[in-house]
Amino acid sequence: MVVAMANPQYVWFDGKFVDFAKATVHVLTHSLQYGSGVFEGIRAYETAKGKAIFRLQEHIARFMRGIKVMSLPVRFSGRQLSDAVVKTVIKNRQKECYIRPFAFYNDKNIGLGTANKKASVIIATIPLAAYFSKKNTGIGCMVSSWSRINSTIIPPEVKASGNYLNSILASSEAKRLGMDEAIMLSIDGYVAEGPGENIFIVEDEKLITPPREADILPGITRDSVIQLAKANGISVEERNIHREELFTCDEAFFCGTAAEITPILKIDAYKLGNGKIGNTTRQITDYYTRAVHGAYEEFESWLTYV
Ligand SMILES: Cc1ncc(COP(=O)(O)O)c(C=O)c1O
Repeated sequence: MVVAMANPQYVWFDGKFVDFAKATVHVLTHSLQYGSGVFEGIRAYETAKGKAIFRLQEHIARFMRGIKVMSLPVRFSGRQLSDAVVKTVIKNRQKECYIRPFAFYNDKNIGLGTANKKASVIIATIPLAAYFSKKNTGIGCMVSSWSRINSTIIPPEVKASGNYLNSILASSEAKRLGMDEAIMLSIDGYVAEGPGENIFIVEDEKLITPPREADILPGITRDSVIQLAKANGISVEERNIHREELFTCDEAFFCGTAAEITPILKIDAYKLGNGKIGNTTRQITDYYTRAVHGAYEEFESWLTYV
């Protein structure tokens, strides 16, 4: 991640703005110790009509669902939190930014139990360019030795901090072994997703992506890609993908708020297609880039102008 702060920065902390450097918690904080917090990742982009937050309502809705699953006693409504995101983006005056809302048990009582523990919410913004330095040239991935979590263990549809131990193990294994990123299989053995990205493969110019049943985080970028593809006449199939399809597909790409659209050129020892970024991946990248920058009237409702 590329992070460089220009203007003085503030963090929205339980309804008040505090200096970035002073937005701190105690080392024994429950969510720091046990990963019991819930977070979101949202981006704001420049458009011809000013800065706009991409799919803010969908991100807040997912955040609120996660808060409910983790029983966090958050005292703010979704409406109040989306207003707070807008205020934070305005206050920090960054050109484009990544927005990180985080709800957590802000309680230094060391016990695991969450009853009677208080919750806090923070919203921070950071300048974030490309998540993958090779976003425009393509990356190499490995099928991870770590399986993706499932709902009998930890809820994969919740962006709970603790879930990301699974992601971190997979991602760091891939990097240690000289690859750029991991692809995790579900416990049932189907392709699930990347550590922080959903995956699409392309076969005969058709998109195929794993369904919710493959224990993915149902990504908002994934949904945007599906809608943009369909609007542009590209068919999309949501179905289970076998590991070997990863090796024989024509093209593949990751998508996510941070990763945006990142082409995958190689998986394990297999080169995909001719080893270059394919046409369908290029088209999807183009549609997505246009959408976040406000080029489509039909998808105008995706943008919250600030
Ligand atoms: C595990 C995981 N899968 C997929 C995604 C992509 O989701 P979205 O497009 O909503 O950012 C993310 C990023 O939030 C993620 O952490």
